[in-house]
Amino acid sequence: MPRRPLVVGNWKMNLSAAKGRELARAVADGLPPGAVDVALCPTFVHLFPVADVLRGSRVRLGAQDMFFESSGAYTGEVSPAMIAETGATFVILGHSERRHTIGHLEDDWMINRKVRAALAAHLTPILCVGETLAQRDARQTLDVLTFQLTAGLVGVSADAAERLVVAYEPVWAIGTGRNATPAQAQEAHAHLRRLLADHWAAAAAQAVRILYGGSVKPENARELMAQADVDGGLIGGASLKADSYLGIVSAALAAKG
Ligand code: 13P
Repeated sequence: MPRRPLVVGNWKMNLSAAKGRELARAVADGLPPGAVDVALCPTFVHLFPVADVLRGSRVRLGAQDMFFESSGAYTGEVSPAMIAETGATFVILGHSERRHTIGHLEDDWMINRKVRAALAAHLTPILCVGETLAQRDARQTLDVLTFQLTAGLVGVSADAAERLVVAYEPVWAIGTGRNATPAQAQEAHAHLRRLLADHWAAAAAQAVRILYGGSVKPENARELMAQADVDGGLIGGASLKADSYLGIVSAALAAKG
């Protein structure tokens, strides 16, 4: 079975609730027909208002993070059930901005707990992995990916494969305008899929969608997504405008159609 392409918009800490609703409506209204899954990930406090707009459309909702405990004295955190209650079905976990930018908040142990908690709550985790520029320059890219993916999936069984999404986001390509080349992306994605096959089995690895993220634009999306192991994109800046985001969705359809 071919993997269905998936394009996820990570709005990060952008937009007002009103602007988010407007953008969600424009995306839902402008979505081209075809075999592609599309999701939008607003900030926590905009999940309910954006869910309202997306109800009945083909666009899914996702959160940008989540805590792994189900309830308790965790000031400022949001539980898996709280995310699910908004109508969200996806949750981004281990984003590099949480691993590296915001005071080194997240380590691989914590990200693994979150992946398992998301799956237990019937959410689809989007597990983000990716090397820094220094690691790429030191030729450590594949080792970093091996470590992050293996650590992220401790205790996760093969039956979760169809519900797991992995995102390869090279840190040096995020928000920099400098995307990985299609060949660099394919090399990383093929490595990740080989690891999944070793971790589980070839069939399970074939079921996992691996997204590329990092300066994806309508102009470069088709070539990136035409790579055999690139199953879609995790889009930051270009997801903040309906035109550019929908252009990327169309590129995914053209690349995989
Ligand atoms: P940009 O598309 O802005 O580079 O961001 C990518 C990203 O971090 C998506 O999660």
